[in-house]
Amino acid sequence: MKFSDKLLARLRRAESICVLTGAGISAESGVPTFRGGDGLWKKFKPEELANFDAFIRNPDVVWEWYAYRKKVIQEVVPNPAHVALAELEKLVTDFTLVTQNVDNLHRRAGSMRVLELHGNIERSYCISCRKKFPDVKPPDNRTAPRCDTCGGLIRPDVVWFGELLPQDVFAEAEKAAARCDLFLCIGTSAVVYPAAMLPSTALNHGAYLVEINAEYTDLSSRAHESLLGKAGTIVPAIVQALHTLRNPTP
Ligand code: OAD
Repeated sequence: MKFSDKLLARLRRAESICVLTGAGISAESGVPTFRGGDGLWKKFKPEELANFDAFIRNPDVVWEWYAYRKKVIQEVVPNPAHVALAELEKLVTDFTLVTQNVDNLHRRAGSMRVLELHGNIERSYCISCRKKFPDVKPPDNRTAPRCDTCGGLIRPDVVWFGELLPQDVFAEAEKAAARCDLFLCIGTSAVVYPAAMLPSTALNHGAYLVEINAEYTDLSSRAHESLLGKAGTIVPAIVQALHTLRNPTP
């Protein structure tokens, strides 16, 4: 795969790289995205499944949906794009991986430090006493689980519509976006805020912004480059190019 001279120069000398990923990076693993063609939000209503009021109204329905998504995620494996980003973390000293995904595939691919803006579907917590549950399963996959300490309802540790992102995690992501010289935005429609602010933060601080996506997005007109195609092909090629540029054979 051939990259522009500008991108190659940035890959060679970037001292700080920040990456933002979205559902598209996991699409080739078999995890459905939210928007576009077969996106989850075409079939399911976020207002019935991904907000706190809906959960209180009908916790069993919400848990049935999360049990289904947990099952999908547990049955798939990270793809070459996840693996390449785990490799990139080892090659660049100041590297930050920020994800909107709750699927845990970055960690399963070997990434050590992941800023999870929207939480992680494998974790849950009690809404009454806040006890954490690393991996809870709803009984019979369709009844909301209850806390074994206080009997309160357990919810998935994910950010729902109308809820704040974990503020410390987002602050760290903002700092990384502001100080990086190369920002890679991979497999996200870049329409959900505040995550979608991070590319602008990077741009405003002088970073080179590269988008990798199956199609053009709201971000494309502002990106320095939009590389159209599959993350599973393009991301490993970028990481390979960076490795080769920094370790030339004699
Ligand atoms: P979206 O479903 O909005 O966007 C997925 C993007 O991935 C689209 O732009 C696709 O073109 C692109 N894409 C699909 N397959 C790809 C591939 N193989 N390689 C590269 N790109 C590909 O997902 P997000 O932007 O992640 O929030 O959505 C953001 C948030 O909206 C999610 O975190 C979720 C959702 O509501 C919460 O749950 C809080």
